[in-house]
Amino acid sequence: MCGIVGYVGVNLAKQELIDSLKKLEYRGYDSVGITILNSSLETCKAPGKISELESKLPEIDGYTGIGHTRWATHGQPTEQNAHPHLSGNISVVHNGIIENYHQLKDELIEMGYEFKSETDTEVIAHLLHLNYQQSRDFHTAFRKTLKLLEGSYAVAAVCEDIPDEIIAGKKNSPLVVGLGDNCNFAASDITAFLKHTKDVIFLEDLEIAQIQKNDVQFFDLEGKPVEKEKTRVEWDLEDAEKAGYEHFMLKEIHEQTKSVYNTFAGKLSELDGSINLDELNLTKKQIRNLNRIELIACGTSYNAGLIARYLFEQLAGIHTNIDTGSEYRYRNPVFCEDDDVLSIAISQSGETADTIAALQSLKSSGCNTLAITNVIGSSITRDADDTMYIKSGPELGVAATKTFTSQLTILYLLAVHFARVRNKINTDDSRNFIRALKKLPGNIQKILNSKDTIRECAEQFSDVSDYFFIGRYTNYPVALEGALKLKEISYIHAEGYAAGELKHGPLALITDNTPVVAIATPGHTYDKTLSNIMEVKARNATVIAVAEEGDHEINKYVDIVLRVPETEELLSPILSTIVLQLLAYYTALARGCSIDKPRNLAKSVTVE
Ligand code: AGP
Ligand code: GLU
Repeated sequence: MCGIVGYVGVNLAKQELIDSLKKLEYRGYDSVGITILNSSLETCKAPGKISELESKLPEIDGYTGIGHTRWATHGQPTEQNAHPHLSGNISVVHNGIIENYHQLKDELIEMGYEFKSETDTEVIAHLLHLNYQQSRDFHTAFRKTLKLLEGSYAVAAVCEDIPDEIIAGKKNSPLVVGLGDNCNFAASDITAFLKHTKDVIFLEDLEIAQIQKNDVQFFDLEGKPVEKEKTRVEWDLEDAEKAGYEHFMLKEIHEQTKSVYNTFAGKLSELDGSINLDELNLTKKQIRNLNRIELIACGTSYNAGLIARYLFEQLAGIHTNIDTGSEYRYRNPVFCEDDDVLSIAISQSGETADTIAALQSLKSSGCNTLAITNVIGSSITRDADDTMYIKSGPELGVAATKTFTSQLTILYLLAVHFARVRNKINTDDSRNFIRALKKLPGNIQKILNSKDTIRECAEQFSDVSDYFFIGRYTNYPVALEGALKLKEISYIHAEGYAAGELKHGPLALITDNTPVVAIATPGHTYDKTLSNIMEVKARNATVIAVAEEGDHEINKYVDIVLRVPETEELLSPILSTIVLQLLAYYTALARGCSIDKPRNLAKSVTVE
């Protein structure tokens, strides 16, 4: 995620771009840059926030330009890696991930192109330059370039030879054109130009907009003109930042089709079933020699770690422990001399003090350390030997949603990669996992399409004072996560339990006014879960099951069924959790709670 903007008009582009970028900063904010098209291209970039760029910007004339606020996916948030990226007389900004950039980069280097950044984006600039040299027509070159790109992109470009014009196109990343008075825009979302206009045209995938001050034309990738309808949006700025959703949390729940994709994009090779984790410095030998993994995390990230324990043990055959950051740091763990331990710290923010302290302690015990985080350059990345980014884009709701499913996705990739390297699974097995992973975005969409049913269920029980969530095996952490989400945003007391543990105490609390959510997706503990459902039914509880689409048997046992699409047993936590996120969200909504900023909580917990 990031923000791109292009402006053509009668005002100085420099100020217009800065104003627009400030509105887009919530989408990503690790570095920033602009190019103004004057008689030549003038580009200025800076790491950090927009204020950093503003403080160093020289006077630049010019009424056309492009800008970018970055949320890095490829390469650190440095000035070099900040957009725009230049090639000769062409400048480009990009939001998304170019999955085949390695191959394109190799080809371009062979042709003599020099790369100045570590980004995937720079290939777009050089390809555009190359194609422009060949065709001498910028539009043809732009179309030809987009055809070569695999992955996701919203791209805007300017060329020194074509004054007062921006060209932009998209695939799997948002792009909208704003139609102003004597000015037009292209941007990642309408917040960028809302002060100028509410008249917009949304681009579809593989469409191109050619934008001038008083004219915008649309084309397909073959250069054929496309007729587009103008829409008038009635959002105010706050609505627009939330893309029209009532809360950031709901927006972020909906973004999961994209964020999960971004996590695995470019890493899967269905051909040979391999997972490409370039950013991981651990060698194959080190992976083979591992005899233990120590997972460290807090809150929702801890729940992701609990699921990962099953993945590492079942797939890769590595003994795995987990602890919360706040407990680990006060233990005296025992390490033997020949222990080969990898410690993995999971933290969305990368700033959680307890997790960082535990990671430091593991590091000083001689473990290899790996951080899994969403925030580039966050504190944890400076302590860990290795970092993997989940690439979910900024998460603003205090309740973690899309970062949890991306954490699970990356942990899944890691477990399958370890399993391959350690010869615990064969090519066919890993191909199957890859296929199932690729289906996730579509499956997530199906759940989002069923949100009205989840909402009805949430509203029916929004007055209760206690909720239970139960599950077995990987569904046990899903139950914990469901309970955590519900309690933090709706303030209903909720407990997550391993379904088999109910009879050891909590069953005493079950009454006819205690809804019990049972995660009962297919798998080797399904029958046992049904028995646990019977136990609570016998105490008159209302049971809400999260079950697979084709499971009709479950209807005999429970009162309400919330459905998830069919998937691999080990991947089902990603889907089931989204149902529970929506259940928590709509419960909190019905209770009128402050959903994005729940009482007493903060997004990053930087204190002990
Ligand atoms: C999740 O909804 C919570 N807000 C909280 O449990 C959070 O997951 C925890 O504080 C850990 O944060 P981190 O992932 O940024 O380290
Ligand atoms: N993949 C690009 C980069 O890392 C764009 C990231 C973004 O969307 O901000 O620079």
